[in-house]
Amino acid sequence: MTATRIDGKAFAATVRGKVADGVRALKDSHGITPGLAVVLVGEDPASQVYVRNKGLQTVEAGMQSFEHKLADTTPEADLLALVAALNADPAVHGILVQLPLPKHVDEAKVLAAIDPAKDVDGFHVLNVGLLGTGQKAMVPCTPLGCLMMLRDHLGDLSGLNAVVVGRSNIVGKPMAQLLLGDSCTVTIAHSRTKDLAEVCRRADILVAAVGRPEMIPGDWIKPGATVIDVGINRIPAPEKGEGKTRLVGDVDYDSAAAVAGAITPVPGGVGPMTIACLLANTLTAYCRANG
Ligand code: GUN
Repeated sequence: MTATRIDGKAFAATVRGKVADGVRALKDSHGITPGLAVVLVGEDPASQVYVRNKGLQTVEAGMQSFEHKLADTTPEADLLALVAALNADPAVHGILVQLPLPKHVDEAKVLAAIDPAKDVDGFHVLNVGLLGTGQKAMVPCTPLGCLMMLRDHLGDLSGLNAVVVGRSNIVGKPMAQLLLGDSCTVTIAHSRTKDLAEVCRRADILVAAVGRPEMIPGDWIKPGATVIDVGINRIPAPEKGEGKTRLVGDVDYDSAAAVAGAITPVPGGVGPMTIACLLANTLTAYCRANG
């Protein structure tokens, strides 16, 4: 079998188009432009790229983008003061503090300081609790994008065996909650899971979010399964020339694509959906705050 390639790039463009339509309608009817504030502390190169892309796509969708770049020596109190100011700013409807934060900053404290209604990442404990109890929450962007692709490809997910490899707060745990909400039978596996290969082979839906390049080979995959690869890992690519690198997922694409029914590529799968869902969450935050 050769798997269907799930085109996250095209899907994300559709989502962004729908957000832009919604933003235009809001401007026409209420003269309002939703705003997203992104806070970056420090100079992590990967975070800088993400933040730049977020800003560009926010503006492309017709929304206001507010970027706050702080030195990596910024005291925690200053960051908390900025979050408080953004909470109080009526032009800001969504707030995202890029992670990871420098070691001297208490991440949990900063996330807890964000107004839950503006928490477009869905990382505030209130939103985590709302999601976990099946109530209306702000939902973390990456798992939301994965769920949208799964629903689009499979339709009803009810009763399917879903295995999520990875237990992070950003992806693994909320992904499991979302799949449970769609009535899947969910297993969360991780680096300590016994016989991980066997666990993965039971999955009708396999979501890989471990951050280890090409860790999951094709022979861990049930024939016909739908595979969502959240990993974005940069590895050396000497075949492209000295010092060159390439991006790979957590799944070994070629061997997996020979067995799976459908699979997301890296790049061009989950990645573009994350920012598209961030824009969608910003519009949602505006709409919920304004009835
Ligand atoms: N760092 C990596 N992924 C994310 C994300 O989805 N949100 C934030 N705030 N930081 C991240």
